[in-house]
Amino acid sequence: PLQWALAAFVGYLSGSVPYGLLFARLFGLGDIRKIGSGNIGATNALRTGNKTMAFLTLLGDVFKATVPVLIFMPYGVTLAAIAGLAAFIGHCYPVWLRFGGGKGVATYIGVLFGLSLWLSLVFALVWIVLAYVSRYSSLAALAATLAVPLAALMLGLPVVALYTGLMTALVFWRHRANIRRLVDGREGKIGAKG
Ligand code: G3P
Repeated sequence: PLQWALAAFVGYLSGSVPYGLLFARLFGLGDIRKIGSGNIGATNALRTGNKTMAFLTLLGDVFKATVPVLIFMPYGVTLAAIAGLAAFIGHCYPVWLRFGGGKGVATYIGVLFGLSLWLSLVFALVWIVLAYVSRYSSLAALAATLAVPLAALMLGLPVVALYTGLMTALVFWRHRANIRRLVDGREGKIGAKG
């Protein structure tokens, strides 16, 4: 229906804004895609050494999903979830960068902030513990996004479980190079350059 298309359009438009790329340019740090892993996300923004820029990237990438989710929440959780999923897809595949976007981790928790505070807490806790113990941002993200759909099922939120499950599958797909590096022991740790 028309509402679904509208939610998807607004979500995608907001999600496709590449804050990491824009802030890196604004701060005179050049093209973020030529630094570190080449990703446009906050983890790679941190590899520029500019923590303010990395933090702004994180904020932008999180709330560009939360805002469309909250806009559509009054019309039901399905529309809100569609807006969130579209924002997430917009981040990973922005038309403006010829569909070469980010890995979706910050945008994922941004969707959760709008959909369920409990689930964002699950995400944040798993991410923080894994990141603290392993120092691998990617590993923390994979574990956190795996935990969320399972937690949604346990909380009796089947619609949310379905949409977050789709996002988790895409997070794993977008991290396939990271997974290879983790297995080979070549993955870069948080804050380390390269
Ligand atoms: O947020 C993305 C993170 O999980 C991995 O980023 O730059 O290390 O590939 P990166």
